[in-house]
Amino acid sequence: MTQLVRPGATIGIIGGGQLGRMMALAAKQMGYRIAVLDPTPDAPCAQVADQTITAAYDDLEAAKRLAEISDVITYEFENIDEETSRQLTEVSDFPQGFHVLGVTQHRLKEKEAIVGLDVPVAPYAAIDTVGDIAFAREKIGFPAVLKTCRGGYDGKGQAVVKNESELNEAAEKLLLQGELVLEAWVPFQCEISVIVTKSRNGETDVFPVAENVQKENILHRSIVPARVSEETEEKAKGLAIRIADGLGAVGTLAVEMFVKEDGEIYVNELAPRPHNSGHYTIEACKTSQFEQHVRAICGLPLGSTTLLSPVVMENILGERLERLLESLGQTKHVNIHLYGKKEAKPKRKMGHVTVLGRHTDACEHKLDTFWTEPTLH
Ligand SMILES: Nc1ncnc2c1ncn2[C@@H]1O[C@H](COP(=O)(O)OP(=O)(O)OP(=O)(O)O)[C@@H](O)[C@H]1O
Ligand SMILES: [Mg+2]
Repeated sequence: MTQLVRPGATIGIIGGGQLGRMMALAAKQMGYRIAVLDPTPDAPCAQVADQTITAAYDDLEAAKRLAEISDVITYEFENIDEETSRQLTEVSDFPQGFHVLGVTQHRLKEKEAIVGLDVPVAPYAAIDTVGDIAFAREKIGFPAVLKTCRGGYDGKGQAVVKNESELNEAAEKLLLQGELVLEAWVPFQCEISVIVTKSRNGETDVFPVAENVQKENILHRSIVPARVSEETEEKAKGLAIRIADGLGAVGTLAVEMFVKEDGEIYVNELAPRPHNSGHYTIEACKTSQFEQHVRAICGLPLGSTTLLSPVVMENILGERLERLLESLGQTKHVNIHLYGKKEAKPKRKMGHVTVLGRHTDACEHKLDTFWTEPTLH
């Protein structure tokens, strides 16, 4: 049976960061109302929401209150626990459910699920205790990347290790945060991501592949079209769809991948929500990842994912914000998105800019000169 949540209804969003804010802005454009739950007062999404609940994510009563005032619930924050999810499903309409959250909250479970769908990942080994280190070292070798199973983002909770003593030292520290995965270092040619959307009514669509340039483990730029062969583009999309189907995902699933010199693709990790590398879709695709997500959870037909123009998106971290604000008068060819965060801490994602052009090289050039010679723009 097709299910439809009509405009006018209230979408409840768990998590009030920039992803929630951009989701809310897309939903409001379509006529929905927004309720948001976030621990911080005046969070980016709360600034544009109709109703806000300021409470911790594990506050069951608060989650129930959100469910009561919402017709459908979604999230931008993926560390929602199973009990909260169960309550949400009981009290409200939570089409995404807990299954995909449960898998993607845990790196090891995530890798096992991906491998189970016959999709390659980098060789890995689990480290639950100090006693597992030797076996993992023998299996994976060096260099390798040691990662916590839970809670990592923007490179937090991981360490690149080049020899036994670095591994021992890093493992001892990181084991304090819980189980670990040791992963072989992948000598990739580039990193890409694919955003796939599955509607609650079973429809699936995928956005153009983004090429992602990281700086200090934080996404710096997304370049679209990615500079990969057509074959790699199609293969990457196929893998993302296979994972979304195999996991029974609803809504948005972002799949991060490494592309090796020989064209082989390894999946790095999944995010069951709109993704930083999909912000380019706001200006450059017929439908943005955020509108697509709203369509998917509300049961509307999915929109077209056609790319309208080559594009480059660059993140604005705290240390760059002042510079951006100084150049505001020169931003004619740069689309600005700021998230309304109060404090511009270093490495904090404060906003992003997007540049469209005839070719991605030209977009990159425009961005480079924007920072170095802003008066030219
Ligand atoms: N096995 C690997 N081989 C090579 N590079 C890697 C590997 N694992 C991670 N990296 C690099 O570190 C970055 C961050 O890794 P990963 O995506 O696992 O971390 P994260 O902290 O969960 O990041 P995110 O903010 O994307 O959630 C990757 O985008 C990649 O550039
Ligand atoms: Mg990542």
